[in-house]
Amino acid sequence: MKNGFPHFMMKEIHEQPEVLKKTILPRLTKGLPDLSDENIPDELLKRITNIRVIACGTAMHAGMVARALIEPRLRIPVTVSIASEFRYEEPLIDDSTLTIVISQSGETIDTLAALRLARECGSTVISVVNVKGSTIARESDYVIYTHGGPEIAVASTKAYTVQIAALYLLFCRMALVRGVYTEEHAEQFMSDLLNCASAMETMIRDENTINEIVTHIVNYPDVFFIGRGMDYAFSLEGALKLKEISYIHAEAYAAGELKHGTIALITDHVPVIAIATQKHIFAKTISNIREVKARGAYVVLLVTEDTAVDEGIADVIIRIPKEDDKFTVFPIAVVLQLIAYYASVQKGLDVDQPRNLAKSVTVE
Ligand code: M6R
Repeated sequence: MKNGFPHFMMKEIHEQPEVLKKTILPRLTKGLPDLSDENIPDELLKRITNIRVIACGTAMHAGMVARALIEPRLRIPVTVSIASEFRYEEPLIDDSTLTIVISQSGETIDTLAALRLARECGSTVISVVNVKGSTIARESDYVIYTHGGPEIAVASTKAYTVQIAALYLLFCRMALVRGVYTEEHAEQFMSDLLNCASAMETMIRDENTINEIVTHIVNYPDVFFIGRGMDYAFSLEGALKLKEISYIHAEAYAAGELKHGTIALITDHVPVIAIATQKHIFAKTISNIREVKARGAYVVLLVTEDTAVDEGIADVIIRIPKEDDKFTVFPIAVVLQLIAYYASVQKGLDVDQPRNLAKSVTVE
């Protein structure tokens, strides 16, 4: 069942390049995104004026990545809500709102209740679901299934990256039908998305290096993840993964927010995983990294391979393949998953079945 891997989580990390292709390839027609098998009408994608993304945990973090992609490019307001909060927020949504519900299991109770509420308010729901025939899939107006296959480890890995792939495809279809992308542009986007499979493979091959880096952080009680924009969305997922399977206290901060309080916690040797892949805010993130380095942090910096960084800014640099910065999420996700995985292994913990957690949360 584990195909020779020591844990399901490692097997599932390794499956990511393959399942990304399985999710995208059947939805390409002449290189362009095609959601006709899902019956999603272009008219819907054209007419909606705002988007509400609803999910829990890792699925919600996938939604945050999608928000960072969609809102600035389509110029549509996108709000990401934690399902258990959305239910009690008296949300302002109606038939001009597209609700995107994301769930690996399709059974998370808060996400399901939020979906029902969104539909009651008149919003159309597209869900991004992994488990075929699950309740969320059945109750949605439209479903984009991720073809991730069964995910056994409690810590979500491949479900996250295929959710993002599916959301990127939906974005590209919207960009096309709304006239934001030309066919040529959309084709290039989809081709870049598919190429992320090989960027993930590259980082998977780096697993021993990441295992070694983890030895420098695994014995500290707290780890901070920082980034800006999309990099902040990645940081949230990196911190969740580390907490859930290594039991190390981990926090993600928008790098620019550190000096509003949290930097007080940065002292000698405190590990900081700094993600700086977003070009338009790179200089700002680097300046925040200098601030933590100056306070003695042990900085692990994640950047693309073509990025020039000053000596001394980080203790270790992990370089991901050169990517357009819309797509760095895929190789970065692999690195963050491997950091959490090796932290759990090095502490001798139960990687696949962490304490207090269930794979599918069917209680409120
Ligand atoms: O099945 P779902 O995607 O609805 O589950 C949502 C969360 O419970 C899930 O992503 C959880 O956060 C993961 N265990 C994190 O690795």
